[in-house]
Amino acid sequence: MDTDVAGIEQAVSTGRLPAWGRVESLVRAAYERYRDQSAGVVADYIPVLAAADPGGFGIAVTEVAGDMHLAGAAEAEFTVQSISKAFVYALVCDELGHEVVRDRVGVNNTGLAFDSVIAVELNDGHPMNPMVNAGALATTALMPAGSADERWERIRTGLSRFAGRPLELDLAVFRSESETNRRNRALAELLASYGRIDIDPIEVVDVYTRQCSLRVSARDLAVMGATLADGGVNPVTGAQVVTPAVCRDTLSVLAATGMYERSGEWLFEIGLPAKSGVSGGIVAVAPGKGAIGTFSPPLDSAGNSVRGQRAVAYLSRTLGLNVFASEVHPTTQGSGAA
Ligand code: DON
Repeated sequence: MDTDVAGIEQAVSTGRLPAWGRVESLVRAAYERYRDQSAGVVADYIPVLAAADPGGFGIAVTEVAGDMHLAGAAEAEFTVQSISKAFVYALVCDELGHEVVRDRVGVNNTGLAFDSVIAVELNDGHPMNPMVNAGALATTALMPAGSADERWERIRTGLSRFAGRPLELDLAVFRSESETNRRNRALAELLASYGRIDIDPIEVVDVYTRQCSLRVSARDLAVMGATLADGGVNPVTGAQVVTPAVCRDTLSVLAATGMYERSGEWLFEIGLPAKSGVSGGIVAVAPGKGAIGTFSPPLDSAGNSVRGQRAVAYLSRTLGLNVFASEVHPTTQGSGAA
């Protein structure tokens, strides 16, 4: 797409969250409203994930000023899974720049399931979407490193900087997924056959599976998301993790693709860039304001946490986060002709 705006500075205008006490009471209200709901099914295609407690439920909101609001099991740990794709994408964009990643991996929704092979074939080997497995494998392969170990370490430390604490590998989940991820191995080989992965595809799957197996909490997700909402500065540690331009690019990709084939519906109902994972996490980002992290393992048929979606919808509405919402300006109210 030729937009002819290269070199023109990005002006920013986002608005503010309500006062601390109001945010705090709405986070608690969201928790109380959905705590007894049980719709959805816990993922079991990675065998160890089937053991997750379907009743576990936590909500966290981090403001760009660093203030935190927690309710329920907001500090319970689970594996980050697909949510890692958003943050690895940001790290790789930060390393390689907007054009390289856009051209190599794409920024569009495939409209097909997150592990679709046919989506790759339909697009002549182009992954199209960095938030599904093919695009995420191609993105992980782009992380500059001299070895698979170094690539993994760069990703682990990068995601830890987003979270503001060292994130640890869940070995049981990593092993369980490694024993069963034939489809991801097939996707990586397919991408390599099209020249979309230049390094050993099986090593790429290994690093990707590790990144998905990092342990996080809803609180971590809220801090990671708030870093994307805050021009790339972690609001808790003050570290500049990525540039403001990378945050903008990452959030636009999340808006288009972060909730898989339900991304359009999500944007229509909730109006926030977001990313979900099969362990039951969701991160939703309100640029310039903060982020919501939720955890609840039961999923809908697209792989998105049912209760997490409801909690984010409630908070988006009550906190005024929908990026498309506006109200009539007082000076124009009632001034139009009948
Ligand atoms: O590649 C996989 O299948 C998992 N490691 C991640 C999938 C995932 O979280 C998709 N989610 N909705």
